[in-house]
Amino acid sequence: MSELTLNGISVQYGDRTALRSFSDGVPAGEWVGLIGPNGAGKSSLLRAVAGLVQYGGAMYVDGVDLAGLGDRDRAQQIAYVPQEPLIPGDMTAFEYVLLGRNPYIGYFGGASRHDRSVVDDVLDRLRLREFADRMLGALSGGERQRVVLARALAQETPILLLDEPTSALDIGHQQQALELVTELREAQQLTVISALHDLTLAGTYTDRLVMLDHGEVIAAGPAREVLTAERLGAVYRVCVTVDVDPEDGAVIVVPRRGFLAS
Ligand SMILES: Nc1ncnc2c1ncn2[C@@H]1O[C@H](COP(=O)(O)OP(=O)(O)OP(=O)(O)O)[C@@H](O)[C@H]1O
Ligand SMILES: [Mg+2]
Repeated sequence: MSELTLNGISVQYGDRTALRSFSDGVPAGEWVGLIGPNGAGKSSLLRAVAGLVQYGGAMYVDGVDLAGLGDRDRAQQIAYVPQEPLIPGDMTAFEYVLLGRNPYIGYFGGASRHDRSVVDDVLDRLRLREFADRMLGALSGGERQRVVLARALAQETPILLLDEPTSALDIGHQQQALELVTELREAQQLTVISALHDLTLAGTYTDRLVMLDHGEVIAAGPAREVLTAERLGAVYRVCVTVDVDPEDGAVIVVPRRGFLAS
């Protein structure tokens, strides 16, 4: 249960600015969805929060400056699922998910019974039990993606960063993974920031959307305010209709045939 405060975060690669002075406050238990076209800066923001790229500005978890934390302390606060994880093919799914427990294992210690039971539990929840002893190199892309999500969940951090965590999953496993994150969020006040390209899913599962383009925030707020056909047309150069379910207010983005002249 942790609040994340981002003050003027910028990410620069050489002379290319990927993210320009991004500020936000994410209260404990909130799920923020990052959306925006390819190259908008979503992954750069998540990588900065994960401490994997240099950034300008400051970040705080419950008022504690993340710049002052060592890797291990940071890893007890923030788990991160990268868009394109590097996966060792010659490790079993169980061994890989157990890596999520590293921030809790002493330098000379091994995994405890508790660490192993956390891993068992996450594998069960993601219906990965049958893959536990399989080598990662022999799993399908979607199975591997679920194992990577399992590793992040096994880290049991109050803050979870997900970069396109369901891009390779079939519709059933997509829903299962996002429902699991929702369940954990409610049970443990997990704070979540995710990049999701599927705008309907992004609107359905998150509390609030932040739309980036060219490294800047161009819209933020509830899905029904951010996801308008006009804005999506202008930002993504796409023809869509946006329907709002009269029953539950869900915002549904439907791509249409057509072509927007640029
Ligand atoms: N390692 C890097 N070196 C140089 N430029 C980079 C690097 N990583 C990203 N960029 C550039 O920074 C900008 C933002 O990239 P980023 O990966 O954050 O976008 P994104 O919103 O996650 O896009 P996508 O939807 O394609 O995943 C892009 O212009 C990209 O080309
Ligand atoms: Mg990305």
